[in-house]
Amino acid sequence: MIKSDEQSKVLPFVLAITGASGAVYGLRLLQYLLEVEQPVELLVSKAALQVLKEENDLVFNEPLEKSLIEYLKLPSDAPLRYHSLTDYGASVASGSYRTMGMAIVPCSIGTLGAVAHGLTENLIHRAAAVCLKERRNLMLVVREMPFGHIQLKNMVAVSEAGGIVAAASPGFYHRPQSITDQVDFVVGRVLDQFGFDNHLFKRWREESHELPIPVQSKQSK
Ligand SMILES: Cc1cc2nc3c(=O)[nH]c(=O)nc-3n(C[C@H](O)[C@H](O)[C@H](O)COP(=O)(O)O)c2cc1C
Repeated sequence: MIKSDEQSKVLPFVLAITGASGAVYGLRLLQYLLEVEQPVELLVSKAALQVLKEENDLVFNEPLEKSLIEYLKLPSDAPLRYHSLTDYGASVASGSYRTMGMAIVPCSIGTLGAVAHGLTENLIHRAAAVCLKERRNLMLVVREMPFGHIQLKNMVAVSEAGGIVAAASPGFYHRPQSITDQVDFVVGRVLDQFGFDNHLFKRWREESHELPIPVQSKQSK
């Protein structure tokens, strides 16, 4: 069932950004969620901060949530809670803390391996393990090129455990005009998995449902 943005707000969304290429996907997802006032529990790996610096010249000051909110041009009271990766006492470390699930965007192959094998070396791994054991939505948007045999097996393991695994692979059928269009395609498809009724990208054949039937073709029928 598709939940409206209104309904999805009830439980917090756990978002982890790890050190695969394309940390900007995670930032865009964070921006969308906070714009629709969805509470977010945010986890960011050290490697993700390095990628943001290398790929986007982005360096965030402490406290991270304040810098992120300013960068994303969101109101200062945006419902964002950031957790240090060493804080195993954080809310998201426990299954008794209810969430609507978790997305790891982008997901490095290192984090994929940890999740596939149930390791809890940091809070991202622990929060993901919690989602799997509680049978909550868990989506990993992996980025690597090519995938090695071990990574492919790890993806199967996560899928068999109930997670959703995707590659960060933007489509071209919506005729992207910019990198933003491509980022939004991937982010929109992630939001689809969590039931957000989003319009970040043009869906396949969507216009045929929205446009009125032209008068001529009505007559010829
Ligand atoms: C600029 C840059 C790009 C990277 N791209 C990838 C990538 O696409 N996929 C990947 O799995 N790791 C990539 N890495 C390596 C990871 O950051 C590294 O394996 C790290 O240990 C991942 O840690 P994390 O899973 O805790 O974030 C990249 C690193 C840098 C600095």
